[in-house]
Formats: sequence, structure tokens, C-alpha cells
Amino acid sequence: MIQNDILKVLYSKEELAQRTTELGKELTEDYRNKKPLLVGILKGAIFFTTDLAKAMDINVEIDFMDVSSYGNSTISSGEVKIIKDLSASAADRDIIIVEDIIDSGRTLEYLVSLFKRRGANTVKLVTLLDKPEGRVVDIKADYVGFLVPNEFVVGYGIDFAERYRNLPYVAVLKPEMYQ
Ligand code: PRP
Ligand code: MN
Ligand code: MG
Repeated sequence: MIQNDILKVLYSKEELAQRTTELGKELTEDYRNKKPLLVGILKGAIFFTTDLAKAMDINVEIDFMDVSSYGNSTISSGEVKIIKDLSASAADRDIIIVEDIIDSGRTLEYLVSLFKRRGANTVKLVTLLDKPEGRVVDIKADYVGFLVPNEFVVGYGIDFAERYRNLPYVAVLKPEMYQ
């Protein structure tokens, strides 16, 4: 049972759903007369992207990009790799990048500059979790679900070495699990 590896639950399924609904309402207001391109960043943002899209009461186009910088470690390599690119063109679009977590900020810094180079009209960032203490580059999200303490979290899309993504809540693992 993967539940046995958990030290504590930080955000329950209900808290995640409630906050996602609130963010969806905010985005609905802010993008009322636009048709934004929602770009979920795989793999971590899979669940948040689909839940957030369902909480938005306007037409959105959904796309995904797969980038990775962590490999099988808890520490970012600092080098962002594109594993899968967008299907849609970013040119002239109002892009909303959807992330599960911002830590060092390197993934988002890379993506924001990439979409601007590709001619996006606007680029905004929404992240479920923000870990400000982890920041090494100057990046701020426009919409944040929760501020998280400086601990390595898993669940609701977030992995440790590709495990624990399918937990329905966000949690901290028992210390021995990170070894
Ligand atoms: C994680 C997370 C964010 C990024 C945040 O992804 O999902 O995308 O790292 O860290 P940063 O702010 O330090 O760049 P990861 O590279 O582990 O890939 P994954 O989403 O496929 O797990
Ligand atoms: Mn990710
Ligand atoms: Mg990862």
C-alpha cells in the first residue's frame, strides 16, 4: 500500500478540489473574452490541468508540453529538456502555463521565454503549489493555489523517481522513502 509510505498529508483531495474551483473562477473572469491556450506541463501537471480546465466556464484549448529537469533525483539538474513539444502554435495566443509546483523556477523561466520567442500574445502562469524558498531565478506565478514549505512533496501528479504521482492528495513521504 503506497499510503503506508506517507508521513503527513499537506492538502487533502477536498482542499485541492476547493482551491482548483476558486482558481478556475478567477481565470474564467480574467479570460472571459479570450480563448486561452491552457498548456499543462507534463507529467506533474496532468491532474491539475484537467481539473482546472473543468473549473473554467469559458472555451479553452488544452495542450501539453513535456519537459523535465529533475530526472530521478530530488534536486533539479538545472537543465530543462523538451521531451514533447506543443501541438498548437504559440503565436498570437493567450497562453496560460499550468504547473503543479514552482521550486527553483527554472522550468517556468525557460517556458516563458520560449513562448515569448514564439510570438505569444500574453503568457501567464498558474501553479497549484509554490515553494518560494526554493527559488534560484526570479519567476513569479500569476495564480497560486498554495504556498508550500521547503519540503519535497509528492502526489496529485508530483513524483519522486516516477512514484507516488497517483496519490489523490499532496503529501510528504516518510524520510526513509527518499533514500
Ligand atoms: C517538476 C515539477 C515542475 C518542476 C518544478 O517537474 O513538476 O515542472 O519540476 O521545478 P523547478 O521550479 O525547480 O524547475 P520534473 O522536472 O520533475 O518533471 P515531471 O513533471 O515529469 O515530474
Ligand atoms: Mn513538471
Ligand atoms: Mg518530477
